[in-house]
Amino acid sequence: WCYKAIYSSVYTRVLRDPSSLKGQINQSIFACVCRSPLGMSRGQILDEDISASSQWSDSTAAKYGRLDCEEGDGAWCPEIAGEPENINEFLQIDLRSLHFITLVGTQGRHAGGIGNEFAQTYKIKYSRDGSRWISWRNRQGKEVIEANRNAYDIVLKDLEPPIIARFIRFMPVIDHSMNVCMRVELYGCEWLDGLVSYNSPVGQQMTLNGQYIYLNDSVYDGAMSNSMTEGLGQLTDGMCGLDDFTHSHVYNVWPGYDYVGWTNESFSNGYVEIMFEFDRTRNFTTMKVHCNNMFSRRVKTFQKVVCYFRSESDWEATPISFSPVMDDVNPSARFVTVSLYNHMASAIKCQYYFSDIWMMFSEITFQSDTAMYNTTLSPPKTGPPIRDDPTHKVDDSNTRILIGCLVAIIFILVAIIVIILWRQVWQKMLEKVSRRMLDDELTASLSIQSETFTYNNNSPSSVPSEQESSSTYERIFPLGPDYQEPSRLVRKLPEFSQTSEDTGELQIVQEGVPHYAEADIVNLQGVTGGNTYAVPALTMDLLSGKDVAVEEFPRKLLTFKEKLGEGQFGEVHLCEAEGIQDFMDEDFSFDVIENQTVLVAVKMLRTDANKNARNDFLKEIKIMSRLKDPNIIRLLAVCMSSDPLCMITEYMENGDLNQFLSRHEPEGMIALLSNAPTVSYSNLHHMATQIASGMKYLSSLNFVHRDLATRNCLVGKNFTIKIADFGMSRNLYSGDYYRIQGRAVLPIRWMSWESILLGKFTTSSDVWAFGVTLWEMLTFCKEQPYSQLSDEQVIENTGEFFRDQRRQIYLPQPPMCPDPVYKLMLSCWHRNTKERPSFQEIHHTLLDCIGY
Ligand SMILES: *[C@@H]1O[C@H](CO)[C@@H](O)[C@H](O)[C@H]1NC(C)=O
Ligand SMILES: *[C@@H]1O[C@H](CO)[C@@H](O)[C@H](O)[C@H]1NC(C)=O
Ligand SMILES: *[C@@H]1O[C@H](CO)[C@@H](O)[C@H](O)[C@H]1NC(C)=O
Repeated sequence: WCYKAIYSSVYTRVLRDPSSLKGQINQSIFACVCRSPLGMSRGQILDEDISASSQWSDSTAAKYGRLDCEEGDGAWCPEIAGEPENINEFLQIDLRSLHFITLVGTQGRHAGGIGNEFAQTYKIKYSRDGSRWISWRNRQGKEVIEANRNAYDIVLKDLEPPIIARFIRFMPVIDHSMNVCMRVELYGCEWLDGLVSYNSPVGQQMTLNGQYIYLNDSVYDGAMSNSMTEGLGQLTDGMCGLDDFTHSHVYNVWPGYDYVGWTNESFSNGYVEIMFEFDRTRNFTTMKVHCNNMFSRRVKTFQKVVCYFRSESDWEATPISFSPVMDDVNPSARFVTVSLYNHMASAIKCQYYFSDIWMMFSEITFQSDTAMYNTTLSPPKTGPPIRDDPTHKVDDSNTRILIGCLVAIIFILVAIIVIILWRQVWQKMLEKVSRRMLDDELTASLSIQSETFTYNNNSPSSVPSEQESSSTYERIFPLGPDYQEPSRLVRKLPEFSQTSEDTGELQIVQEGVPHYAEADIVNLQGVTGGNTYAVPALTMDLLSGKDVAVEEFPRKLLTFKEKLGEGQFGEVHLCEAEGIQDFMDEDFSFDVIENQTVLVAVKMLRTDANKNARNDFLKEIKIMSRLKDPNIIRLLAVCMSSDPLCMITEYMENGDLNQFLSRHEPEGMIALLSNAPTVSYSNLHHMATQIASGMKYLSSLNFVHRDLATRNCLVGKNFTIKIADFGMSRNLYSGDYYRIQGRAVLPIRWMSWESILLGKFTTSSDVWAFGVTLWEMLTFCKEQPYSQLSDEQVIENTGEFFRDQRRQIYLPQPPMCPDPVYKLMLSCWHRNTKERPSFQEIHHTLLDCIGY
């Protein structure tokens, strides 16, 4: 098969057409993980499954419409006859089973320079059963997809919303101005849910402060009248709604877009009934329903669900019923998991009972035991099922070979497991030798388990375990091979592979970067989705002798105010703490009046976090407890006596520097006219100097922050600044992070080239981030760094920094930035890490030019 190195070419082409990728970032669960080519170019899709309405000649038949292939005359070309408006030419692909399709690629006919035919625009139709065809529209309702501009480049387009279908038709828009030929590829993965359609009452409209919130199913593809029938839509589009249902990930849509919602006014029986039809009888384990829980707006998760099952043609008489724990504390949207107890069914009918006036869902998924089913009951694709009947003789020798193979495979697996276990034990031993730091009083409190915690209102709030894991898709869908971590990206930049061979430049580069070997870093990533300080193990050892000098704080004195951020294993809440002064170090003066409540940030670990996350959390506490600097956020107290483990840190009344500056204007005409609050240049300078001072302290301990930015600096009275780390998943700043395959998020706009390309985080890369932070401050955080570049272009620009051929783009000098300060910024972005100033020097420089 004419398989080329399509993966690398896809990536570079995406970089050439970054708009095609834009929609995917931070949005859909699938969009990131379910993007594998389905086999047009590599040939897994057979010729017989590719058909067309017509062909120009035998050498331009449907089977030649494969992306990046040059067989035949180089593409599929239809025979075009008749008037443009009557032309309905299409190239049809049968995927043999339902697939979730997130991306399409098209290309024209090049044929080594002979051809010059391509489709400038096209439409897509799809079908799940081969008889009912549905026209695809994007989220804004547009059918036509812009495609190629020349005969050779591949143009990739995200399908937003994605398609769930077995048959796909590409329909070039033909206007006789040129001949049209196409080569195509589909990207996605198999649709393992097996859901073919859902029928439900139509979503309703809410009036909120005079604004309409449209809770209809915006992308439903079935029939829609009083109820919705025979289609799939928003509940299966892989996109989970935000905590606040009036907002959406999607750009330029009406409020309420992400959710389908109903009010109890219209349902006198108190429930909404949704029926789900599946491709075949399945053995169901669970159903997950992503619900909004913004109780302040009278929206809540359902209080009870009753599900009926249909296996053959009759509905089973006994339904199952489930009542989730109501949560009146945490307003986050969440997945509620309902166990279906291995019921066999081809259709499920569920009645969701209202617990308040509104109920809103954004996603419903089903998990079924397909593997089990496949091996025992389903007929193999290519023939009749083999049954235990005497007329059907199973070849004995084949069976023996099969058993032999299986035994061999089992042995190999066992061997692999043994090796892995052995390595882990070995690593553990090494770890123990190098740092004896966990065996102290903190570990002891680990064993205390408790499922709930309370704030001072005493209402139990179980932290729902599914909230973050979002969906099974992450687990069940394979990662697309064409989107990789940027540090892997380096291998794809042709220069990198060359330099190491011919000039040895890469070698030099790596020597130039002082970095710790991976194993030397105590990696504290991920407790709240954040990167906490990366600490060389050496420093940890120096620190590990002393005791942790933080006190236990009674949890009931905390009052929840708002959620600041969350991550895979934890959340950060803003809380009021009563009488915390009594729990703090004497050496730390906290200028609050006795018995007043104090704002604090509470970082807490979910109760279901795994052991690694717990250990990391404890290490983070140890590290934090030793950071004592006027410009670094202090750890005030901990709650370790019961789950969830919490650490309580300072919070400052003016919030983070990013929001603080965006609310202010520089002193000058505009501020005078608009009457906006101002910050003078000297105060700005004062704040920058404090950040430099805090970083100087961190770097003196060899701590690497990894995520220095204005969003991670807090502002107190009189422009005092403290550096914090909130983790990376505050919704407010989600656009600042680049999501890789739905797993890691990286603040690429603040990251040095070597952090992005080589994965090296050092004090020098913190210096780089400091330069960007300084730039943010001098622009008053009115725009994101490199706001005119897409995420992909930022990564591309990183490559330019590496190549250093003067094509790299630097952040421009902000209007109010004096020359010496811009010079300082530029020095922070020096390609050679050794030539970047240290924080000591930066602090010194800033102090020196205070007269400015
Ligand atoms: C949903 O409501 C919006 C806003 O009124 C409307 O524009 C859109 O067409 C509706 N969608 C469907 C599928 O009815
Ligand atoms: C469904 O799956 C479960 C777990 O794999 C199994 O125990 C049960 O027997 C299955 N049910 C049927 C009817 O096959
Ligand atoms: C809707 O729910 C609210 C709150 O639970 C309740 O007070 C009201 O009576 C319900 N309305 C109807 C029509 O059931």
